[in-house]
Amino acid sequence: MTEKIRKVRKAVLPVAGLGTRFLPATKAMPKEMLPVVDKPLIQYAVEECAASGIEHIIFVTGRRKSAIEDHFDRAPELESFLDERGKPEQARMVREISNGLRFSYTRQSEALGLGHAVLCAAELVGDEPFAVLLGDVIMEGAIPATRELVEIYEATGAGAIHVERVPRERVHLYGIVDVAPDQPRHPRWGDRLLAVRNLVEKPAADKAPSNLGVTGRYVLPPEIFGYLAETKPGTGGEIQLTDALCRLAKENKLFACIYEGKTYDAGDKLGFLEATVEIALKDPKLGAGFRAYLRGLKL
Ligand code: UTP
Repeated sequence: MTEKIRKVRKAVLPVAGLGTRFLPATKAMPKEMLPVVDKPLIQYAVEECAASGIEHIIFVTGRRKSAIEDHFDRAPELESFLDERGKPEQARMVREISNGLRFSYTRQSEALGLGHAVLCAAELVGDEPFAVLLGDVIMEGAIPATRELVEIYEATGAGAIHVERVPRERVHLYGIVDVAPDQPRHPRWGDRLLAVRNLVEKPAADKAPSNLGVTGRYVLPPEIFGYLAETKPGTGGEIQLTDALCRLAKENKLFACIYEGKTYDAGDKLGFLEATVEIALKDPKLGAGFRAYLRGLKL
């Protein structure tokens, strides 16, 4: 028997959703291409992949999403135009968008849910572990979020997801985990690493098993595809990734790791504005001027 692959080389980025919360902006443009300061939302997730040792990105796209393919493709005309006009810095920036990564694309013909979107990537992933990143969530921390999950997988051989504490009034917007401390405690992640017993999709606050919400970063074994293939449509008629994760947790093993960095749910208008303001404030060129502008606002 061949040794099971432990190295996580591939990441699936599902971008086939309809982005209805951002209409009318998303009528003809993918939500994932909305700019946060000077980069499209999806580029933050791709940069996180590059910083996490991922080599191959698999986008699950849909209709009206071709701008994403164009963005990560080479643009030789634009690069030479910038070079000829004496703008080498901008030419370099355009060249570096793809970060030396390999990109593949597959289609989800109908937005039947996140679980269904991940299942669409099964053939391209094959029989090896892989990461999943929700492209509308920006995660910023000292250690790239995906890298932390990759390290947990590579150390333990078990799938892992990030979770964070969410206020009671927002619990109904998240997948919420029921967890127990992992025994014995892992020397590296200590109390932050928990064993998942169950997951509930968007529970009412009084029915939630905890206040730990799933953030949008996962590293999963290939067995998840078997569970997804057997998952029936759940909440909202969609095939939920949460249902397959529940089976993985119960029949196999799944870790939840409490994330220590900052998460922006930029798929939601308020989260998008928070990401824009905070990332602009941290920008070395824009930060000081933007801070002065905000201080001077008379509201
Ligand atoms: P969301 O639910 O945040 O995205 O899914 P959405 O459906 O596009 O947005 P709203 O709720 O209508 O405003 C999280 C990620 O999963 C992808 C989305 O593109 C998004 O990046 N997704 C979701 C799919 O690829 N396919 C689906 O069927 C559903």
